[in-house]
Amino acid sequence: MIIKSVKLTNFRSHEFFELNCWKETAMISGENGSGKTSILEGIYETLQGKSFRAVDREIVKRGKDFYRVEVLYVDGEKVVVIYDAKANKKTFLAGDKKTARLPRKYKYPIVLFEPDDLNLVGASPSRKRDYFDRSFSQLNEKYSSSLSKYNKALRQRNELLKKEYLKKEEMFSWNVLLARLGVELWKTRVSFVEKINKRLTDVYRSIAENDDKIGITLERDAEFEESGYLRQLEANFERDRMIGHTSFGAHRDNYTFFFNEVEADGSASRGEVRSIVIALKFIEAEEIFEKLGKVPVVLLDDVFSELDETRQKALVKNFKKNQVIITSVGAVEDNY
Ligand SMILES: Nc1ncnc2c1ncn2[C@@H]1O[C@H](COP(=O)(O)OP(=O)(O)OP(=O)(O)O)[C@@H](O)[C@H]1O
Ligand SMILES: [Mg+2]
Repeated sequence: MIIKSVKLTNFRSHEFFELNCWKETAMISGENGSGKTSILEGIYETLQGKSFRAVDREIVKRGKDFYRVEVLYVDGEKVVVIYDAKANKKTFLAGDKKTARLPRKYKYPIVLFEPDDLNLVGASPSRKRDYFDRSFSQLNEKYSSSLSKYNKALRQRNELLKKEYLKKEEMFSWNVLLARLGVELWKTRVSFVEKINKRLTDVYRSIAENDDKIGITLERDAEFEESGYLRQLEANFERDRMIGHTSFGAHRDNYTFFFNEVEADGSASRGEVRSIVIALKFIEAEEIFEKLGKVPVVLLDDVFSELDETRQKALVKNFKKNQVIITSVGAVEDNY
């Protein structure tokens, strides 16, 4: 077990809530809107330093001016997050230190499984990109910072494109930055996709108990090095001006899932699609352990009851070593 308890104060609908973990698996059940996802959000805050679904000011309980989350680890460490809404200021207390960001040492990896993830295979390119970006960011800190720099540079280039008077030269520094970061993102994405593909079919087969073949591809604008990337951005200047945004680059990547060599979206069944997503989660947990040396905490938000018995059993089996926190509407059968 990793987490011993979590306390939430003024966090969404919770004025005060305390979760004590006695076993490897904790179940939180309640009606819709009773605050189940918010509890997972609080755990995510303390382990990762930020929410997975909102900005801080939306999280503070309406009518209150701060929120506080405290997590107590089994090994005795404690991390507290306090957000002061009036000052729009967040403070982390960990190991007798006060910081504005959660120190890397106190970050703890999480595998989060949300209801919407079950639709990942047929989701929009941007939804799929966000999904993998979050996963890769947790595995690779450099990727995470390059991605936020890339997005910032892209926003600035797009702003510039909308200016009434603009010389091509004004774009140069942004183009150079985007080319450098874009190629870096591509390289990391390609290597992660390769890693996933090495395991995906095997892991899928262990869940679905058949011999189907699963794969993911990353479709990119082109096979470019930094110089080619830069040339392409420059060549698109007039066109980008007309359409008002950047039409080439890593922000347009698309991931496609394949089921027995055919595109999975439209061919795989609902159950098969779900097994693919579950397989991805297992691979993510494995990668985290391999890369970060920590067994991730698994948060299953409302997905367990959505799965049939075979897939529920696969989850139980594969996350046996992990601490798992499950939410569910109404009562949950004790499968653990
Ligand atoms: N800042 C806030 N202050 C007070 N209440 C809030 C705040 N933000 C959200 N809520 C409310 O908190 C409640 C709990 O939300 P949450 O998403 O945690 O519920 P849930 O139990 O996961 O519901 P569901 O079963 O529908 O997923 C909702 O009714 C929501 O309207
Ligand atoms: Mg919920």
